[in-house]
Amino acid sequence: MELAEKHDLLILSDEVYKDFLFTREEFTTLAQFPAFRKRLIYIFSFSKAYAMTGWRIAFLAADKSLTEKIIGIHDALVTCAPVVSQWAALGALELAQEDKATFREAFSRRRKLICQEFEPLQDWLEFVNPQAAYFIFPRATDKLKRSFEKWEKQQDLKEWDLRLQQEQSFSWKLALALLYQAKVALVPGVAFGPQGEDHLRLCFGRSEKDIKLTTKRIKEFLKELEKI
Ligand SMILES: Cc1ncc(COP(=O)(O)O)c(C=O)c1O
Repeated sequence: MELAEKHDLLILSDEVYKDFLFTREEFTTLAQFPAFRKRLIYIFSFSKAYAMTGWRIAFLAADKSLTEKIIGIHDALVTCAPVVSQWAALGALELAQEDKATFREAFSRRRKLICQEFEPLQDWLEFVNPQAAYFIFPRATDKLKRSFEKWEKQQDLKEWDLRLQQEQSFSWKLALALLYQAKVALVPGVAFGPQGEDHLRLCFGRSEKDIKLTTKRIKEFLKELEKI
């Protein structure tokens, strides 16, 4: 906040995962501090906490001096959020508080499960227990990178029809290998910028059965790499 004051910056606070906090700490938002509000644009989407991704509905809160400008752009782009979705969002706020808690508990169990499943793979994929949201972001170890490089040489990557940018990216190729070989769809870390390059992003939003199947398939793929 001091930095924002010093450089006259606005802060965009994207709090879509605020309901998926798995520690005992209480969630703190900058919006709690009145002194920050002039610089703050708070965003919340119904997609995550209320599992309403398809409804395309969200809201923001900001100082009036900012919302007047934001509305001008919003109006020109989309006129308004679909009215049916606005009603659905209202219904969620009024009626779904308990469901939100149920989701959080389910995600907490899934988080525990995926971390347990990945624990024995730390030689290949190192990760930290996520404290919030529903993703793990494991980093490939040197062992995985070396084995993958050897494996890759034995494959006919032409069949993958890679774009140049993908050809040069380890995480892209690893993600595609997992897609084609292990039938697991995940996001290559490079999608989050160059620092993500050695990582994979897995969402544990799926059922516990799917999480187990996913890790089983990944383990089988790693066993193949081990043989090389
Ligand atoms: C951090 C974050 N913010 C915002 C969004 C946007 O969600 P939606 O466009 O479904 O409202 C996402 C979706 O993945 C997200 O991960």
